[in-house]
Amino acid sequence: MTQEKQTRELIRLESLWKIYRYGSVDVKALRGVNVSIREGEYVSIMGHSGSGKSTMLNILGCLDKPSQGSYWLDGQDVAKMEDDELSEIRCSTIGFIFQSFNLVPQLDVIENIQVPLYYAGWPEDESRGRAMEMAEKVGLADRIDHKPTQLSGGQQQRVAIARALASDPLLILADEPTGNLDTSTSREVLEILDGLSAEGVTLILVTHDPEVARHTQRVLYLVDGNFQKDGPPAEVLRR
Ligand SMILES: Nc1ncnc2c1ncn2[C@@H]1O[C@H](COP(=O)(O)OP(=O)(O)O)[C@@H](O)[C@H]1O
Ligand SMILES: [Mg+2]
Repeated sequence: MTQEKQTRELIRLESLWKIYRYGSVDVKALRGVNVSIREGEYVSIMGHSGSGKSTMLNILGCLDKPSQGSYWLDGQDVAKMEDDELSEIRCSTIGFIFQSFNLVPQLDVIENIQVPLYYAGWPEDESRGRAMEMAEKVGLADRIDHKPTQLSGGQQQRVAIARALASDPLLILADEPTGNLDTSTSREVLEILDGLSAEGVTLILVTHDPEVARHTQRVLYLVDGNFQKDGPPAEVLRR
């Protein structure tokens, strides 16, 4: 019998609702979601357009607040926090990876990776050293003075991954991380994410692509603002 290594609970959503006021209409984007995610899990969130994926990612990323219910992030209820506390938690706890990379075009690779460290108040020399380590980790040590336009899409996404990792966040959130990449480049980026997961990094990604979801260990499938399925990809994605 194998004993599952028990890691600590990083995320708990309890009866979580997000209701958008749209004119005189209430749009119930998330409807009483309950879920628990542990440190080190590799999770994908799937669902059709309009099922609430972006809303969920915005809330998990502390970019938006729930209308009702609790969001416990590492033991703190972020649903009750003020905006300035939220942005502090966001900076110190979460790394983001976006579909469109969102690099700063005027900055070179090292400087882009340093952005979150700058906001976290790291001294320049330490920050540069850390960014260099991260560039090496994603295989871009020989490109550190390139600007984003001088890089391929896959390389840009690797810079974004290095940036997301720089401040050693508790959690990495990725929104369609391979959405702008061709198949072989997607595979490269997924290999990096798989490697991070193997090192114990907690990763949650939103994707509409079953091939991407198959890289993760757990698929949360959103239907009408709730997780209708929750399980390993082989189970949830079975036809
Ligand atoms: N700012 C907003 N104002 C009003 N309705 C919104 C807003 N953002 C999203 N919605 C609605 O909430 C629901 C979920 O949207 P979203 O989270 O973007 O889904 P997905 O990312 O899965 O496509 C949809 O019905 C959408 O129209
Ligand atoms: Mg969306």
